[in-house]
Amino acid sequence: MKPVKLHNSTFYNGDCISGASQYIPDNSVDLIITDPPYGISGDRLHRHYNRNEEFVTGGYCEIPQEEYADFSRRWIRQAERILRPGGSIYIVSGYTNLPDILCALRGTSLHEVNHIIWKFRFGVFTRKKFISSHYHILFYAKPGGKRTFNLESRFGLAEKDDDNRSLNNADREDVWIINREYKPGRVKNKNELPLPLVSKMIQYSSNEGDRVADLFLGGFSTAMAAIGLNRKVIGFEIAQPVFAAKIAELERIRPGYLLPELRTPFIQNPARSRTRWTEADRTALAMEFQRLSEDRLPKSEIVRRLQETFGRGRFAIEKALKKKNR
Ligand SMILES: C[S@@+](CC[C@H](N)C(=O)[O-])C[C@H]1O[C@@H](n2cnc3c(N)ncnc32)[C@H](O)[C@@H]1O
Repeated sequence: MKPVKLHNSTFYNGDCISGASQYIPDNSVDLIITDPPYGISGDRLHRHYNRNEEFVTGGYCEIPQEEYADFSRRWIRQAERILRPGGSIYIVSGYTNLPDILCALRGTSLHEVNHIIWKFRFGVFTRKKFISSHYHILFYAKPGGKRTFNLESRFGLAEKDDDNRSLNNADREDVWIINREYKPGRVKNKNELPLPLVSKMIQYSSNEGDRVADLFLGGFSTAMAAIGLNRKVIGFEIAQPVFAAKIAELERIRPGYLLPELRTPFIQNPARSRTRWTEADRTALAMEFQRLSEDRLPKSEIVRRLQETFGRGRFAIEKALKKKNR
């Protein structure tokens, strides 16, 4: 398989099971976000959110129901292998074949962190039953390393809404209400995930410069969001038409283009904000700054990581770095 290399990322037009085993080393990705085919033949649900089918690319590869359990076991085994210890994986699944995915996960060392319900408005009309308006997101992690979970990446712990309820708690509930994007008039895959949904997983479970994998790129939502948030991507898509269309779209974006749109959380009282800096603290800070600079991370990300490591606020870190450089 010949890779397409773009924005520090690598994309393959081919099967993810043989491709991952050939091209992705063990323990080499920080985060996996993926949305496998649902194994529902004759699935027409996508028609409700793609009202004009003319813009939906062909070639979407579905998996026959009778092969779904084995298929799930095989790709999930690859996911487990490539994830670094402590790395996180989010799998989006409908309910029809959810037992196969859960069963495949149980056969690995991955452990459950959360079972998230993604709720959205679907627009399907039914008379004799309730209206389906959710998907499952299985958030698992690989044991043996430190898991990234950026607690205050979107809302500070002290931030409240007008009714004095915690915004951070609300954002971290395990039911996520995020609507689908209709994207009228744009070329798309059958089931594209909304960027705000994927961005949320990326913000909580990775840092800038991390490597994010998606084994079923489809309409490249994971890739768009991850590159937009300055992460590197590796991924596969078996269907040629959508792969070609989305690579062309990716060429037009700029790494980090989503960063200016992110909300800045208000973070109060970092753990060591009231402790005096010692000379040893300053030396450790300078060394860590040097180490992170060698990874060529943007200054804002370096300062964010230093805040986390040293338990200090942004201004304190910037001031101490200036002092050290004088
Ligand atoms: C549910 S869609 C992914 C949608 C994607 N998350 C998005 O937001 O656009 C699943 C995709 O997996 C692709 N696919 C199916 N079997 C595959 C395989 N063995 N290797 C790689 N891609 C595959 C399908 O062609 C389809 O585009």
